Amino acid sequence: MLIDGHGRNVNYLRISVTERCNFRCQYCMPEKPFSWVPKENLLSFEDLFKFVKVAIDEGIEKIRITGGEPTLRTDLDKFIKMIYNYKNDIDLAMTTNGYLLKESAKKLKDAGLKRINISLDSLKPEIAAKIAGKDVLKNVLDGIEEAMKVGLKIKINMVPLKNVNDSEIVDILEFGKKRGIRVRFIEYMENVHAHSSLKGMHGREILEKIKEKYEIQKVGRIGSSPAFLYQLKNDGYKFGLIDPHKHDFCESCNRIRLTAEGYLIPCLYFDEAMSIKEAVEKGDIEKAVEILKTVLANKPKENRWSEEATEASNRAFYETGG
Ligand code: 5AD
Ligand code: SF4
Repeated sequence: MLIDGHGRNVNYLRISVTERCNFRCQYCMPEKPFSWVPKENLLSFEDLFKFVKVAIDEGIEKIRITGGEPTLRTDLDKFIKMIYNYKNDIDLAMTTNGYLLKESAKKLKDAGLKRINISLDSLKPEIAAKIAGKDVLKNVLDGIEEAMKVGLKIKINMVPLKNVNDSEIVDILEFGKKRGIRVRFIEYMENVHAHSSLKGMHGREILEKIKEKYEIQKVGRIGSSPAFLYQLKNDGYKFGLIDPHKHDFCESCNRIRLTAEGYLIPCLYFDEAMSIKEAVEKGDIEKAVEILKTVLANKPKENRWSEEATEASNRAFYETGG
């Protein structure tokens, strides 16, 4: 079992396999970064897997593959298969923009992927294009359909933005409801990389929009999920709200992040990180475990979120996988 310096059981590892992305979402990467991490700085899947094995041995029970856009990395299915073959009851999930899923969903599912979170910010082609920086909607919808077809468990993420897609909150909710897919509304997290004119919506504003059409009830937080669940009174359809601005968000944090370059990051909102790259490349697994334990011992108690966002880390979400 991995326990952090504040007594939290850390059993969830998020691995960003690339910071590259084929979208330019306004809230994440509106401009192409000045330079991408050179390919030679990336940890190979073989080296990443060395770390994954010890992390699992130490108590990690859930792994999520993120990016950037993880499906851009060649041989992703082989990496998933390595993890699945090592421990097939690991809760193995991925977060994706869905653009390439039509081609890759089956391969990923066959490799052992169980669950997938797909971003869907608009059902209007022109708004989706405005947010993602190119015409993406058809591919994303095809991707969602394919993921359903091959039997992946799906969640949809939407980031509501004022005067951009805020009129579609109910539409996206109903899109999920119709398909039996859980939708999670994520409060926009201010960050220096995002488009400066963006205005996010507060959780309560998001709920207000839904209440214009539906009566809703609180369900609660399930386990260590960052989402607070609500349900529609009429048919019990459940949806989530992720509001990192809220106070109690960090109490149940069970996660640690690994970047494509091998940095272990204890909290999104802090710059502190340690690299396991040298250790795994040398095959020094004991050293990698030592680094993991040091990072956990120093995991911050809570994010120092402020809406002014001046103190938060400048590390981009596309490096850490959000
Ligand atoms: N604020 C909120 N959510 C974000 N995501 C990326 N950047 C931000 C941000 N600034 C979300 C995307 C996607 C997931 C990877 O993270 O919507 O669903
Ligand atoms: Fe790419 Fe996801 Fe960032 Fe959008 S939010 S630019 S899809 S990494």
